[in-house]
Amino acid sequence: MSIITKLALAAGLATALSSGALAQDISGKVVGFSQIGSESGWRAAETSVTKQQAEERGVDLKFADAQQKQENQIKAIRGFIAQGVDAILVAPVVATGWDDVLQEAKEAEIPVVLLDRGVEAPEDLYLTSVASDQVKEGRVAGQWLVDNVGSEDCKVVELQGTVGSSPAINRKKGFEEAIAGHDNITIARSQTGDFTRSKGKEVMEGFIKAENGGADICAVYAHNDDMAVGAIQAIKDAGLKPGTDIKVVSIDGVPDIFQAIAAGEANATVELTPNMAGPAFDALAAYWADGTEPEKFIITESKLYTAADDPEGEYERRKGLGY
Ligand code: AHR
Repeated sequence: MSIITKLALAAGLATALSSGALAQDISGKVVGFSQIGSESGWRAAETSVTKQQAEERGVDLKFADAQQKQENQIKAIRGFIAQGVDAILVAPVVATGWDDVLQEAKEAEIPVVLLDRGVEAPEDLYLTSVASDQVKEGRVAGQWLVDNVGSEDCKVVELQGTVGSSPAINRKKGFEEAIAGHDNITIARSQTGDFTRSKGKEVMEGFIKAENGGADICAVYAHNDDMAVGAIQAIKDAGLKPGTDIKVVSIDGVPDIFQAIAAGEANATVELTPNMAGPAFDALAAYWADGTEPEKFIITESKLYTAADDPEGEYERRKGLGY
């Protein structure tokens, strides 16, 4: 072998190692993915990233959109089991009611990976869960408010996510933990906006009406950016300035919220990566290779972004990513 060939091979090996290209080959595997639907920009990005991650690995991804219904997800999972797929990814719309179908997958020896939301089911019924620490997300958002309100009295209105979903439960909990002991900050009203922009706007309109045309509201805490964007529109329609008259803090880090932050109409967001599938496929690859059991909970980062974090740049970095 010539020295040039040896050097080329060594360089190729180094690149492969650093890019993780020598990870287990899972091309040809068939994986079912039961997605919740397309309620938010973040959800759309998660769908595109999952398809892209599957394609890069040569995985044949069977995609099923449940249109927000748990019964559709259960039906899809049973369909995947009947087809004998190699693994199942599921983003569970709500936290409860999964035991039976997860047990069926286990009996069929099909590993299940939960994506972005948790379930209240025995942990041995799924291989791993790739998600953020949703209590922490709520805590980070609440702490931002605590740090930015000082000693002023602050009435907060809360737009909750889908009722019974793990992010709605946990983001509420984390936020309440952060403001506990700060008696000047109170949650005056709290209602679901179902993680959608249109419902976020509609519910915010009701809050504004009930709170002296919005004059009594100090801040809106939305469990996702889409509802925050809807709320921003409602605040503007009421003749108030979002970001100034009413502070806006939310979760996800979608391009539109960075535009709003850049325009001074939103104040802070906690980023949620849409790439849950990458770690999920890596865990499956190791499991298929030699039975390696991954950590039960693979936790993604939760970083706070404000106007100080180059919102224009963050918008540019995200705008083509499928949101
Ligand atoms: O489960 C993650 C949440 O679901 C996202 O924060 C929200 O936008 C989505 O609908």
